Amino acid sequence: MEETLQALKQQAAELIKGADALPKLQEARVKYLGKKGELTALLKGLGKLAAEERPRMGALVNTVRQELEAMIEDVQSKLEAEVLAAKLSTEKIDITLPGRAARQGHVHPLTAVNEMIEAFFMKMGYTVAEGPEIESDHFNFECLNLPADHPARDMQDSFYITENILLRTHTSPVQARTLQSQEPNSPVRMIAPGKVYRWDYDATHSPVFHQVEGLVVDKGITFSDLKGTLELFLRHIFGEETKVRFRTSFFPFTEPSAEVDISCCMCHGEGCRVCSHTGWLEILGCGMVHPEVLRINGYDPNEVQGFAFGMGVERIAMLLYGIGDLRLFYEDDVRFLKQF
Ligand code: DAH
Repeated sequence: MEETLQALKQQAAELIKGADALPKLQEARVKYLGKKGELTALLKGLGKLAAEERPRMGALVNTVRQELEAMIEDVQSKLEAEVLAAKLSTEKIDITLPGRAARQGHVHPLTAVNEMIEAFFMKMGYTVAEGPEIESDHFNFECLNLPADHPARDMQDSFYITENILLRTHTSPVQARTLQSQEPNSPVRMIAPGKVYRWDYDATHSPVFHQVEGLVVDKGITFSDLKGTLELFLRHIFGEETKVRFRTSFFPFTEPSAEVDISCCMCHGEGCRVCSHTGWLEILGCGMVHPEVLRINGYDPNEVQGFAFGMGVERIAMLLYGIGDLRLFYEDDVRFLKQF
């Protein structure tokens, strides 16, 4: 048996070392070490030996098995390395080929204007507040001194979800929410940017648009604080030479109220189509916070006063960039967007 083993070992070694490809090596493995392999058969035949021969022969067969396995492993890694080398030499990547540059985008013009507005007011020490777009009648109207059946609701009566829940028609409810979240009479200096919803739809109105609300409340706030702040703001956005004027107006939540115009940034006040030949552009609404609004929201108008303002982001962006149709903002046409 020992001779058979030695002969087998030699044959196997020749076959293994002679394997010049992985499939051949696999064949050799099966032939000797497989379940029905020749070495395996020898191992099974041990039972027929005399009992005192068995351990020695068993050990011998196992040693040969280990030697053959090591040999196979050796040859296998050599062959695998050859396969890899062949692959690498045929699949070379030409790294000198210029790549395709990724197109770079930029922020949407509405986002850009929003960020300009936020940056200005944050430098002035305002915080940025947010409120829900699905709002209650209570915060959208009642807390702003707009009781049920008030005719001023007509301009805004829009998208109701239930009788008392609607898509907010302006960012002004954030005024009420902010006041109510504060210790009564404590100072407030905040802006609230966000989406608002109304039923209009034409070249200058969209059913969804963006506003930025502003609210300042403290002891001794006056109309000159309001005027100074908004003049500074509008000159910052539209340029130092911009003229600003305040016209009396009405809002239920401010008293007195004003509409603010800037000198037309297209014709510089000469008169053109954009400003309907008046030289002026209406840009935002504002006023001194109505005492009733302070009271409704837990503040004492004898202790503190405030001013508020609200502006449309689309309108400012249209005037700033000379865009004639507001619907362009929402169409995602790259030919339009890449101009900014
Ligand atoms: N909420 C008003 C609107 O959407 C805009 C507005 C006007 C807001 C005057 C204010 C304000 O805070 O004081 O038409």
